[in-house]
Amino acid sequence: MQELTTIDLSRFFDRFPTLEMERLLLRELTLADAEDLFAYYGDSSSTDYVSYSAFKSIDIARDEIGRIAEGFKAHRFIAFGIERKSDHRIIGTCDLHHISPEHHRMELGYGLTRAYWGLGYMTDAVREVIRFAFEEMRMHRIEAECETENIRSIRVAERCGMTLEATHMENEINKGRFVSNHVYAIVRE
Ligand SMILES: CC(C)(COP(=O)(O)OP(=O)(O)OC[C@H]1O[C@@H](n2cnc3c(N)ncnc32)[C@H](O)[C@@H]1OP(=O)(O)O)[C@@H](O)C(=O)NCCC(=O)NCCS
Repeated sequence: MQELTTIDLSRFFDRFPTLEMERLLLRELTLADAEDLFAYYGDSSSTDYVSYSAFKSIDIARDEIGRIAEGFKAHRFIAFGIERKSDHRIIGTCDLHHISPEHHRMELGYGLTRAYWGLGYMTDAVREVIRFAFEEMRMHRIEAECETENIRSIRVAERCGMTLEATHMENEINKGRFVSNHVYAIVRE
């Protein structure tokens, strides 16, 4: 039987990975992306089901790009910018966090600028990130947590083959009210 040991992920943090699909490029964010990122994080109509509130200025988007770079440098998470290849705009982010090389598992988070919803971009990105995590990083399990009312996020998780494993009832307060969260997961076959 194969012995299960801690995965050495250091090579994934030597240089920021880039993943390419037909319509999208998942890549490192730079300060040049601040305006596009602010279009996403600054839109209060996209933050109903996430723990943060809309950014009030582009400077906070710049700070976020710095935080993402620091997190990568510290081997804590990989937050990809999602670039649309047709016009090179950053249309959202998809991140791998709570990375546990000991247990071969990680969590996935994602969001798109509202103007780009309904076109299948996030489904493409999440499928590719799951492939990357399983085939290249050799992860065994990927989790995603989303509020039970976040129907669009639930659909993305399910379209990408994730299964509902648990629901935590009213386990968080978000924007002044108790919210419940689903835990979705996919395990490598
Ligand atoms: C969650 C979120 C990324 C989902 O966005 P989305 O646009 O619904 O998801 P996708 O980009 O995968 O697009 C899927 C939709 O495009 C449609 N579509 C069109 N062309 C498609 C294609 N080529 N491939 C797949 N789907 C396509 C699908 O039918 C689907 O629409 P439906 O759900 O109405 O059936 C978005 O709602 C969001 O950013 N929300 C704010 C942040 C957030 O809540 N993040 C999640 C926290 S847990």
